[in-house]
Amino acid sequence: MNISQRVTQIAKSAIHEMTRLSKQYEDVAFLSWAKPTSGTPAHINEAVIKAIKENRTGGYSQSEGLPELREEIVKKLERDNNIGADISEIIVTVGAIEGLAAAVMATIDPGDEVILPTPTYSTHIRQVELASGNPILIPLREEENFALDLQAIKNAITSRTKAILYCSPSNPTGTVFSEKELRELAKIALENNLTVITDEAYEYFVFDDKKHFSIGSIPEMKNNVISTFTFTKTYAMTGWRIGYLHAAKEMIAQIKKAHIPFAICAPVVSQYAAIAALKGSQDCVWEFKAHYQKTRNLMCERLDTLSDHLSYVKPDGSYLMFPKILGEAGKDSIAFSKKLLQEVKVSTTPGIAFGPTGEQHIRLSFCVSEEMIEKAFDRMNSFFR
Ligand SMILES: Cc1ncc(COP(=O)(O)O)c(C=O)c1O
Repeated sequence: MNISQRVTQIAKSAIHEMTRLSKQYEDVAFLSWAKPTSGTPAHINEAVIKAIKENRTGGYSQSEGLPELREEIVKKLERDNNIGADISEIIVTVGAIEGLAAAVMATIDPGDEVILPTPTYSTHIRQVELASGNPILIPLREEENFALDLQAIKNAITSRTKAILYCSPSNPTGTVFSEKELRELAKIALENNLTVITDEAYEYFVFDDKKHFSIGSIPEMKNNVISTFTFTKTYAMTGWRIGYLHAAKEMIAQIKKAHIPFAICAPVVSQYAAIAALKGSQDCVWEFKAHYQKTRNLMCERLDTLSDHLSYVKPDGSYLMFPKILGEAGKDSIAFSKKLLQEVKVSTTPGIAFGPTGEQHIRLSFCVSEEMIEKAFDRMNSFFR
């Protein structure tokens, strides 16, 4: 068997391992899912059924996506992200993930460095490794609500650094980087001619008085940002595999060279779903957000009663949080997650899955029902008793 170094070096995902283990038990309380548990809204499904019946979905689209969809995306970027875009600056991708992979491929050469504030979504780290780049992991400042460590980012820049890749709102910490922090980050990127690659998958799930800020809205950053977005979280469309990215037109031409061999084009059936999502009522988005705000509050209330065992930063966004395991038990987050599963059938994600700075933590997901949270925490109470 011939197996490349490129894939051999990539560690097995602790997330998938925990999912596999969780399936061996019955009646598990899942706090490890990072996907919306609600179904795709009916009006989106119905628009797609119509498109299928009218035989519009059987062929390829333009590799950059249907013009009608890109026009809707341009309107959305202007309205919600303050990004002035042209349809020539958009590629519709197979989820945010394929867009991110193509963006990384188009930005770095083997041996180049990409700075990732961590803990972060582990797929980003793997995408850099797959492109034969070096992920440079810079810890977030947990004591400051997981803020960016801008000085450490500056200090980490070398002649091989090409990009900074972050997600905000963050998976796994739920942090929403502030406009001030991101403007500072933009300055650093411009001074060092770095490309900022964003993952804004959770852009609509931001709570209380916090606001999502797109670094791509800073005009001076035009040639230094690739912004990626998705329908996955916003409209509960995980399985449709549809997202998009925005970058300068000259960059788009280069990213397309990676996008085409990966995907040719995003699934056309899903592009019709995306058009319906953007053109239809946005009530579903606000309903999802209201639900997550409620489940976040409940999860924090329940965590407050376990403060001898777990400390946490209240998440401002996404539907994820990243409590710290206090004491000896925190030394090995995989062992801790396994024990929780084996002893009380609660499925969590070990923090180490999000980079070495994630050790001593577990990721908990609140994109579940209130009943699921109550059940999981009742069991955790008995685990810690
Ligand atoms: C930060 C982040 N980005 C991207 C994704 C996946 O996005 P998509 O389904 O659009 O590929 C996830 C899924 O969990 C995520 O947490």
